[in-house]
Order: sequence, then C-alpha cells, then structure tokens
Amino acid sequence: MGIFPITYRQESGDVFIGGLRLSELAAAYGTPLYVVDAATIRDMCAAYTEPLAETYPNHMVIYAGKAGMSIRLLAFLKSCGLGVDVVSGAECLTALRAGIAPDRIVFHGNNKSLEELQLAVESGVTVVVDHEQEMATLSALAKSLGRRVPVMLRLKPEIEAHTHDYIKTGQIDSKFGLAKDSVMALAAAYKSDAAIHILGLHSHIGSQIFDTEPYYDLVDRMVDHTQSLSRVLGRDIEVLNLGGGMGIQYTAQDDPPVVSALVSGMAAHLKTACQAAGIPLPKLILEPGRSIVGVAGLTVYRVGAIKDIPGVKTYAFIDGGMADNIRPMLYQAKYTFGVAQAVERSATETYAIAGRYCESGDVLSHEVLLPTLQVGDLVVVYGTGAYNYAMASTYNRVPRPAVVMVENVQSTVWVRRETMADMLRLDAEV
Ligand code: LLP
Repeated sequence: MGIFPITYRQESGDVFIGGLRLSELAAAYGTPLYVVDAATIRDMCAAYTEPLAETYPNHMVIYAGKAGMSIRLLAFLKSCGLGVDVVSGAECLTALRAGIAPDRIVFHGNNKSLEELQLAVESGVTVVVDHEQEMATLSALAKSLGRRVPVMLRLKPEIEAHTHDYIKTGQIDSKFGLAKDSVMALAAAYKSDAAIHILGLHSHIGSQIFDTEPYYDLVDRMVDHTQSLSRVLGRDIEVLNLGGGMGIQYTAQDDPPVVSALVSGMAAHLKTACQAAGIPLPKLILEPGRSIVGVAGLTVYRVGAIKDIPGVKTYAFIDGGMADNIRPMLYQAKYTFGVAQAVERSATETYAIAGRYCESGDVLSHEVLLPTLQVGDLVVVYGTGAYNYAMASTYNRVPRPAVVMVENVQSTVWVRRETMADMLRLDAEV
C-alpha cells in the first residue's frame, strides 16, 4: 500500500478516486469533505485475513474502531470478514447496530463506566479487563445479571516500539493494562469465579509502528505469558490478542511494513513458539485500526484566500483545519498534499496550509510545495482515513464535514455533514 488509495488515478489533469472526480464530489457534497475509497479498505482487510486464512485458520481480525467508525463503515468491514474493537458505550452500540455479532466485538478501555460495563455484559461482548477494580465490578455485575462474561486480561508486554510517546502503550508506566505478575494474580483470584470466563491475554505495543522486530518479540513474550496463564488456570488458553499498531505511509519518507508479510510472519512465529512451549495454538486476534482505513481516506478542502507575507511566507487558507485534522498539532504528523485539478502543473510555490480556526497553531503544514493556487482551488490531504474524523471537534462551532464512500463510480454518504443547527442542538433555550 502506498500513500494514495488504490483507485487513485489522474485523467485530463483531474484526480479520480473510486472512478469519481474529486472536484465533482466537492461540488456535490461541499468542502471540507472526507472521501473514503472502499476498494482500498477491502484490500487492506484482505491483507490481514487472506494470509491468516491460509496459515492460521483459528483467527479473528477486529478493526480498532477508535480509528474512526460509523454504522456503514462497520457494516462494510463486516462484509470484509472483520469484527470490531470498541472503547465506549456508543462505539459498542454502533457495532451492534452495524450487525456485528457480539462474539466478534471486544470492549476495551482503562476506565469503563458502570453503564458501559452493563451494556457489555448484557450484549454478550468480550471485555478486555484493564485492572483489578474493573474485574471486581464486572464480576459483581455479571452475577447480578445472571451472566458469564468472556474476558481477556490486558498485559503490558514491556516492549519498546519506536513511535511517538503519546501513542506508545506497551511500556511499564503505561496507563493501560497490568504488569505480568498482577495479571497472573488477578487470574488466580478469578479462576473459579462462575461469572468470569478468562479467554486469554491481550497486548498492544503502540501505534504507527514501522519495525517488525517488536511484533516478533511480542509473540515470544506473549506465548511465555500464555503458558504462565495456563499454569495458573490449570487449563489450555483459548485466545491470544496481539493488538494492532501497524504503521502506514503518510509521506515519501515513511517505510511501513507490508501487512500481509508481517501477518503471515507473525502467525508462523506464533506456531513455532507455541510448539516449543508445548501449548496448543490459541485463537489469534489482531486489532488493526489505522492500517485498515488510513490510506483509504483523504480530505478535500477549498482554498478561500491566499495571504502573502512578502519575504516571510505565503498562507493558503483552507475551509477546514485543526478541527478535522488535529494530528499535525498533536503529534507533529506529516501528510502528503496535492491539488485535485490541473495536477500536471509543476509544483513551484511553497505554501503554509492554514486552517480557518481561531488559533495560530491551526496550520496543517508550514511548508508544502504545490502548483500556484488560486482562490477556489481544491487542496487534497492524503492518508486522513484514520483518527481524523474520529478525533474531529466542532471547535468554533464549525460543523464537521461529511464522510462519503466511493466505489465503482458511485458515491454514498456514510456520515452526513453537520449543520449549523446541529451545533446548537444541545443548548438549553432561553
Ligand atoms: N488496540 C488497542 C488496544 C489500541 O489502543 C489501539 C490504538 C489499536 C488497537 C489500534 O492501533 P492502530 O492499528 O490504529 O495503530 N490518535 C492516534 C492513535 C492512537 C492509537 C490508540 N490506540 C493517532 O492519530 O495517531
């Protein structure tokens, strides 16, 4: 997978995605606009499921819904054979509404509310238990509801993944999960609890990871821990969840792993490690988010003005910015920029691409080389399919853009554009 959706093509100077001209989508749906290429998502799902179907049939790939979700997206992912990882009550409801079977929904979070735990138990989804307090609450809740909850225990694998500090999770000081000894103690304490069914362990080392080494280390370490858990529980362990985090290519400098090769490599490594440890093969769960939807998405903006500060810089003002893409400000994230029309013009001007929000930091990039821009031109930011809409806000009461899926020369609204009226709908009247 590269930087662009797989259906990307140029024809007479126009960019087409899913067989549709971006300029026509912008005219039909307005800007800013999130466009999602279904074919790219389908390909990325297959990059996970196909090698596993061949080498490790007992598996489940669940999409990390925090990367961005809607009912339509999840229903589409279901058709591609994926389950879903959710981290809130509303994410869980979205997955259920999309028709995802409860046994293919995994509920995460380090501080789930009582209401959320109740929803999880009543719906029959699997809960990833983060800490002792949660286990106690869950057990009491399940007993009061007469249910038995399938759980995985989240263990900090203590593996260094080279990524931004904000998106590391495997290290010992992480707020997520428990150290090995605490996990084993918890398992021992709930071993005979009739309301809790411990399926196995969960781990996740971080996000936007390019190295493959940490994943192989993770397999080795988690097989060890699974063996320990098996001793504690006195039985075989059914499941091993190795999380997500596989990086994607945002710019020419990024060199992410090839998913299908990594996945088959991990599966083969897992088989060998289990054999060596003398434990039966657990069901392998992977929970990728970014790598499923990231490259499939792009954002189309319209230029409203050009402001030249002679000898300093030239701003191109776009009609979105930090509220629909906070990642440059939060993680110094870099993107690939382009224009949607007359793309053959050579890139001769350097622009700072600034958003419309009342904040000086609202700049998607301080230096982008583009063809000369005019007011009304369309600027495209690629690779915005993951964690963009999901982290979007309504700062300045600017309605959030629509999400439109394109496939085979057809477009479908997956999430409608918010309106000004939507911005006021929660306010009490005077
Ligand atoms: N599983 C767990 C337990 C996670 O915490 C995450 C991401 C994933 C799976 C999926 O990771 P992925 O395959 O998408 O890398 N907002 C940040 C990313 C935060 C990631 C949070 N956890 C960003 O925009 O880069």
